[in-house]
Amino acid sequence: MRPLVAGNWKMNGLGSGLSELSSLKEALAASPPPCDVLVCPPATLIAQADALVQGAFALGGQDCHSRPSGPHTGDISAEMLKDAGASFVIVGHSERRQNHGERDGDVAAKAQAAWRAGLTAIICIGESEAQRYAGDANQICAQQIDGSVPGGALAANTVIAYEPVWAIGTGKTPTLAEIAAMHGHIRTTLARRLGEAGRGMRILYGGSVKPDNAGEILNLPEVGGALVGGASLKAADFLSIIEGLRPS
Ligand code: PGA
Repeated sequence: MRPLVAGNWKMNGLGSGLSELSSLKEALAASPPPCDVLVCPPATLIAQADALVQGAFALGGQDCHSRPSGPHTGDISAEMLKDAGASFVIVGHSERRQNHGERDGDVAAKAQAAWRAGLTAIICIGESEAQRYAGDANQICAQQIDGSVPGGALAANTVIAYEPVWAIGTGKTPTLAEIAAMHGHIRTTLARRLGEAGRGMRILYGGSVKPDNAGEILNLPEVGGALVGGASLKAADFLSIIEGLRPS
């Protein structure tokens, strides 16, 4: 499957920041990317971004509620994201799991909400630093897949993002060998759980992906793209990560 490079702006970006999306659109028109490209700005900007980028790349939300509508003050449904112009939504990001107490079952319900609305779900998993040091990373990630990825997941509507919690926003990353080993383990777990769908599903790496390490990470076996936080905020950095996928 074609790789996916996805940007997660987190709680960053005002209307003035949309100029980064215009720059990205212009650059991608001048040099078509070797991958699918997605930006997940804050939900407040999706409709404006949609009008601006006009399909030059995909847009996504960073979270959704599991219900389509109702008395849930402050929440946003997958249907609302779709209506605003999104085609993807990130669910189960570690910042949601940590800051909002989301558990695997909640994440699975959000993934199903994404499909119900016609969105592709990017389901995030990843171990903490203590879990890695204890030698539990493989077991934790397999458990998160079992609990967060609903049984009916297809390669066409689901993407897995492996994001070791200790690598997010820290400048630290696992070694290339550790990333390759974990992606192989995730592939085996998905295939066991989902059969053919699990063999074809994209598995993104996320956590301190930068222009200077993207090339070597993105070219590892079973790495089907990247989920990029900080380095997605500037079009120039994000573009040079996308360029990391071109054969050298
Ligand atoms: P980072 O964030 O690239 O800033 O480490 C990645 C993410 O949280 O998706």
